[in-house]
Amino acid sequence: MAEPKTAELMEKIVSLCKRRGLIFQSSEIYGGLNGFWDYGPLGAELKRNLKDRWWRSMTQWRDDVVGLEASIIMHPRIWEASGHTSTFSDLMVDCLLTKKRFRADQIEPQNGIAYFYTGATDGGTGKESKDSFSVLVPRGKPPESARKAAKQFYTQRGLENPDLLGERSEPVENTTKYNPENGSLLTEPRPFNLMLKTYVGPVESEDNKSYLRPETAQAIFAQFKNVLEVSRQKVPFGIAQIGKAFRNEINPRNFTFRSREFEQMELEFFIRPDEAIEAICGPVARPSGSGHPGEPQPNWGWQIWHQYWVEERLRFYENIGLPRNSLVEYWQKPDELAHYARATVDVLYKFPFSKRDEKGELTGEELEGIAARSDFDLSQHQRFSGKPMTVFDEELKAAWPKVSPEKQTELRERYTQARLNYLTRTGEAPERAQKLAQADADAVSKGYYVPHVIEPSAGVDRLALALICNAYSEDQAPDEKGKMETRVVMRFHPRIAPIKVAVFPLLKNKPELVKKAQEVRDLLRPHMTIFYDEAGAIGRRYRRQDEAGTPFGVTIDFETLGEQGPELKDTVTLRERDTMKQERVKINDLPALLLEKLR
Ligand code: GAP
Repeated sequence: MAEPKTAELMEKIVSLCKRRGLIFQSSEIYGGLNGFWDYGPLGAELKRNLKDRWWRSMTQWRDDVVGLEASIIMHPRIWEASGHTSTFSDLMVDCLLTKKRFRADQIEPQNGIAYFYTGATDGGTGKESKDSFSVLVPRGKPPESARKAAKQFYTQRGLENPDLLGERSEPVENTTKYNPENGSLLTEPRPFNLMLKTYVGPVESEDNKSYLRPETAQAIFAQFKNVLEVSRQKVPFGIAQIGKAFRNEINPRNFTFRSREFEQMELEFFIRPDEAIEAICGPVARPSGSGHPGEPQPNWGWQIWHQYWVEERLRFYENIGLPRNSLVEYWQKPDELAHYARATVDVLYKFPFSKRDEKGELTGEELEGIAARSDFDLSQHQRFSGKPMTVFDEELKAAWPKVSPEKQTELRERYTQARLNYLTRTGEAPERAQKLAQADADAVSKGYYVPHVIEPSAGVDRLALALICNAYSEDQAPDEKGKMETRVVMRFHPRIAPIKVAVFPLLKNKPELVKKAQEVRDLLRPHMTIFYDEAGAIGRRYRRQDEAGTPFGVTIDFETLGEQGPELKDTVTLRERDTMKQERVKINDLPALLLEKLR
């Protein structure tokens, strides 16, 4: 359960999101649709800013990453190859009384007295139900509440006035078999595939069944060869994509945190297998400590590449205003790792609704996962499509003959074993797996391999929510008459703030002020998002922009017009949202000065 203070804070944030046009419930006029959200004017700008920032820092500012924009619906075989058709499921349970659905792993263990019933009869109609049922009630509570729930259960089975049969009770501890909201027994957990289905074409047949993508990553793997061919890149290099993803989440919750439609920003960064690096560069460089390992080097193995991307991503978050101490770097334990992953680091943000540890500290919820996925994905697509996903590495081909025979044997053995592990896991018969793995090792000695991949995979909506939670603050500021009042300020970092500058003429009924203010607006508009506002007292206008998170306000007053002397002519007041400090700035200096602050 969230602590009252936390719940109150989230309520304030949700209400501000609606009031200020950051986030609205989808289809609100029809009562909403659970797990779907719309972004209003400010939210749309915020999301655009953070996607732009991600895109620029992951692709345009680098030589070794290129972009992709793939379709949402793809060939259904893609999801067989990726494992989503067979394994992308959560265990779910249903309440036997209300039919409400829960994710099995989200049921908190409970203690109490469980009441069991073997069935019920109805004296009036002579009907009978042999369905067994059970209810959990807190210790000390009389059995009547259990009986009431049980009667409701049998009434739903057609008995008008049920007489309960075979009641017995026993204390239970740490059980997850009951609905925490009403004590009713839950169904046994069963898997529920999270992919949203649709039909492609006019006929709704099994043959035409398809899926809305549950992640953007698979399109990158499926287009790997095409991108490689046209981009003049060679391994190591990456392909980045931003786009919608859909998951039929059993229990969407925590505002936009777990939605059914959301956006992802994913990079698949392809690297050489360690054996190839060793053949080319000699010993493979591994992490020598914590922190950023610096500029990429040819001798980096997968571990140091993984560390590099974790650190790059942490820097990205800090760069857009999430303080380091609001983030947690969580290394998944071996039993938590997906079967293909060699290591995964989750970057968590300490949301107000995150659970607390025994010291009362927020533990954080996942913003992004950075996984070292070996060569699993491309190998799967190679197997399922029958199209080779190997690359030819000129340097490897040239280096191999120079490697000592002992080293060649060792590298071949290691590579064969790694491929054998993969092939055996896919169900290949041992003899055939051995043959294929050896053929793969032969290929390596000729310069061919399936690249390995490091995947930083982030959610746009979760990041937007983290930035909103992080920005929300209240402080005390003087109102029009100098009386202190509570001010709500969204302290967005200027880099991602939805509106960068608000431009205000001091008075709206002075045409000279309005004209000058509009000139300032037009001067700045080509460079940044501007909000022009002439309505209401200046203090109120500042407050509105504080709530919108606009970092700078520019006011055009009588001094701007030169009425207080020529030295102040064509200067404006520049107000900073966070400090509320005001300084006089020449209009002509504004674009450069502001752009510097937004960089
Ligand atoms: N390709 C790997 C992948 O999709 P994931 O951990 O399932 O990994 C990556 O998802 C990111 O996508 C998460 O860290 C999260 O930010 C976002 N995400 C996943 N499911 C989401 C949901 N139901 N609602 C909002 N964001 C979600």
